[in-house]
Amino acid sequence: MGTQNTSIHGEWSSRLAFILAATGSAVGLGNIWKFPWLAGENGGGAFVIVYLLCIALIGLPVIMAEVMLGKRGRSSPINSMKILAKEAGRTQWWQALGWTGVIAGFLILSFYSVIAGWALAYIPRLASGMFAAVGDLSTTKEVTDFVSTRFNELTGNPERLLAWHTLFMIVTVTMVAGGVQGGLERAVRWMMPALFIVLLVLVGYAMSTPKFMDGVHFMFNIDFHKLFYPNGDEFSGAGVLAAMGQAFFSLSLGMGAIMVYGAYLPKHASIAQTTTAVVIADTLVAILAGLIIFPIVFTNGLEPGAGPGLVFETLPIAFGQMPYGTFMGTLFFVLLALAAWSSAISLLEPAVAWLVETGKFTRPIAAIGCGVAVWLVGFLTIFSFNIWSDVKPLSMFSVDKTFFDLIDYLTSNIMLPLGGLFIAIFVGWLMKKQIVTEELESSPDSLGYRVWHFLLCYVTPLGVGLVFLNAIGVFS
Ligand code: PHE
Repeated sequence: MGTQNTSIHGEWSSRLAFILAATGSAVGLGNIWKFPWLAGENGGGAFVIVYLLCIALIGLPVIMAEVMLGKRGRSSPINSMKILAKEAGRTQWWQALGWTGVIAGFLILSFYSVIAGWALAYIPRLASGMFAAVGDLSTTKEVTDFVSTRFNELTGNPERLLAWHTLFMIVTVTMVAGGVQGGLERAVRWMMPALFIVLLVLVGYAMSTPKFMDGVHFMFNIDFHKLFYPNGDEFSGAGVLAAMGQAFFSLSLGMGAIMVYGAYLPKHASIAQTTTAVVIADTLVAILAGLIIFPIVFTNGLEPGAGPGLVFETLPIAFGQMPYGTFMGTLFFVLLALAAWSSAISLLEPAVAWLVETGKFTRPIAAIGCGVAVWLVGFLTIFSFNIWSDVKPLSMFSVDKTFFDLIDYLTSNIMLPLGGLFIAIFVGWLMKKQIVTEELESSPDSLGYRVWHFLLCYVTPLGVGLVFLNAIGVFS
């Protein structure tokens, strides 16, 4: 079964289609909303460097391994792992990797959809010229107050958040129900290039702000003290863990999204080349987002560590002040929502593919069932920003986190890196070399293969392990 040529779900029409879809999965809120927020909160430069190192030394080898697993297994992550464990003569417990991935996907999508709902809510706000009023205000304080009040009006209102979350989930389910070529592929063909162009225009605007260089400096000035000692002289490994977690999150790694996309890869498509293209595109978008946000932050005297609202409290200032801002702003949030959709579908796809493979459900029914489950879990995130903002479920362990914070932490910082670790161990140590090289279409003696194999076998497990130990304070 492991060598069958196509999956029952169909396949991408070409190599380019796979690159677009995988880039669609990788590029999303993680790059534009989460990366600047985390970089700002963790002191800038040192966080960015650790993030980039994680991408290059862990993310790239793991994405290749994960796509390869999918391409070999040709099924949902749960069944692919079952088939591959059998083929490698290993225990069926490896299926658990598929299961935890499905759970991680549900949890991530439950908050992802709520945040994507913010982006949706900002489309009519910008289109109606709400932020053009910023141009008439005289002090930066008035400007920043105006913009943050608008943001708080939205997040403080559970009904409104629910409405946008519902809309986002309905469209996600519809796209997943449409299947590989009909739904997933059509959506990403044109929106990735469009998003990139709008980001470049915004970088142009950021360059025209007086504090552009401060923003650049913040992002690239490496100050490890800020990363390890965020509160003065108390050591914390949390920033490094956040950077590693973000690398996994941003590349959609460790939960089967990229694996299931690999299952739809045409038989002879180069994994190394396609995944490298995806990693480069993803990293570029995150860096561009930072180069846009931080100059606006410093020009308007805002706090880089403002938290999850950062993007929504900075960009509207730019749109309110720049020429054609109403148009550009509307377009930007439309594209952000589309980028979020192309990621959301990949969060749902592993579970839906598995349900279809059981033979008991049609694709639309499976998609609706999963969508409803995720939609319900989403309430936890919605309420985290208003009526439950003071509810800290783990406060008895002195963990000061809302439901949203907890779900985000559990998935990005724990589940995805662990998923990646197990993928690395399975591919690096347990699979037959001959199968691995066959799927990668590479010779075991080539330099590229040897470097990849070394990173996967040693650097990934060691890196993930050390960052975990560091985060629980073992090295302090
Ligand atoms: N990579 C996506 C983003 O950066 C989020 C995501 C995570 C998608 C995990 C799929 C799996 O927005």
